[in-house]
Amino acid sequence: MSTLLIRGARPYGEGGPVDILVRDGVIAEVAGRVDADGAEVLDAGGLVALPGFVDLHTHLREPGREDTETIETGSRAAALGGYTAVFAMANTDPVADNAVVVEHVWRRGREVGLVDVHPVGAVTVGLRGERLAELGTMARSAAGVRVFSDDGHCVADPLVMRRALEYTKALDAVVAQHAEEPRLTVGAQAHEGEAAARLGLAGWPAVAEESIVARDCLLARHVGARLHVCHVSTEGTADVLRWAKARGTRVSAEVTPHHLLLDDSRLSGYDPVNKVNPPLRTGSDAAALRAALAEGVVDCVATDHAPHAAQDKDCEWSAARPGMLGLQTALPIVVRTMVEPGLLDWRGVARVMSERPAEIAGLPDQGRPIAVGEPATLALVDPAGRWTVRGADLASIAANTPYEGMELPGTVVATLLRGTPTARDGKAAS
Ligand code: DOR
Ligand code: ZN
Repeated sequence: MSTLLIRGARPYGEGGPVDILVRDGVIAEVAGRVDADGAEVLDAGGLVALPGFVDLHTHLREPGREDTETIETGSRAAALGGYTAVFAMANTDPVADNAVVVEHVWRRGREVGLVDVHPVGAVTVGLRGERLAELGTMARSAAGVRVFSDDGHCVADPLVMRRALEYTKALDAVVAQHAEEPRLTVGAQAHEGEAAARLGLAGWPAVAEESIVARDCLLARHVGARLHVCHVSTEGTADVLRWAKARGTRVSAEVTPHHLLLDDSRLSGYDPVNKVNPPLRTGSDAAALRAALAEGVVDCVATDHAPHAAQDKDCEWSAARPGMLGLQTALPIVVRTMVEPGLLDWRGVARVMSERPAEIAGLPDQGRPIAVGEPATLALVDPAGRWTVRGADLASIAANTPYEGMELPGTVVATLLRGTPTARDGKAAS
């Protein structure tokens, strides 16, 4: 029997410090003072204990682009970022549009064992938006797929989207839509606005996102299915979601850390590290997204962790691939944008980083309360910690972080998955 004693942590940053006794992966006792002879002691004085984070949107790049990330390196980055479950997007090579690929990703995740890796299944064959993939087969596979997405591409055809919603409703699953009307974003390079106009970059208009979100909310309501909206990036999308939720639509939504913090003033440096899809919008969009997250109109934070090789980023803007690393910097960006200005307390951080994403994906053993009988699946965070981001030091193979050289608040000191430390003091378990 293994026992671990977490000494002096403050669950959700509330009340005084407590000791948390973990026996065989389960929380056995939470009290002001616990004595347990022979237990391994983890000194958590000054730390906030939160349920382990759940990322609904991670690109792990395996199979196909193991030069940029693997399930192993991505799992390490996740553990170091406080994550205990990640959803691996389907835009791999081959595409995760069948049971063989999703089972491979799921098995490899289990072998590595640092974080629960849940493969996302593609909605359409080859992400081509034409023919539905075998959703039922993926759902019934060992991987038990419950989230389907063509992320990177929009399911643009309304009839295909309707059928996807009908199938996922029957499977008790959810479609996660990358909302981008392709006819409105041909050749797009950056947010359509002043900054892009000055640089002569073709624009990605906000309405390309908003029109699809509105359409899909209407479709989901018509079908009676659940819809999840990936990486909400505009104020108008938040308005559409508020309206749809108010009339009872079963819709949830995520926002990325970079859309909470960064805006299109970053374009002026012409550094493709800032190129991402959806693009960085205006400062007032970012402010509206922070408010929408605090309000619950946007349910959760998801990283859209998107590793890219140096040659795909250190090139001219139009040739660069969109995406940025996110797993290890997500919590600090949430602290900077939401906790420091008083928009969220630590209870709120637990909600948007862990509880809501676990609910949306239907994970029964993640995002659980810190209480006796619950799995010891936790992130221990030092709210006073500060660190300076260096892409080269991150666990990912790729180094495309937009936060290079920035000093960020909030460090993840330890991550526990069912009682086993998967990261501690900045080092992932091997
Ligand atoms: O910036 C992005 N990168 N957005 C996406 O939708 C896909 C992702 C990727 O796979 O690199
Ligand atoms: Zn996407």
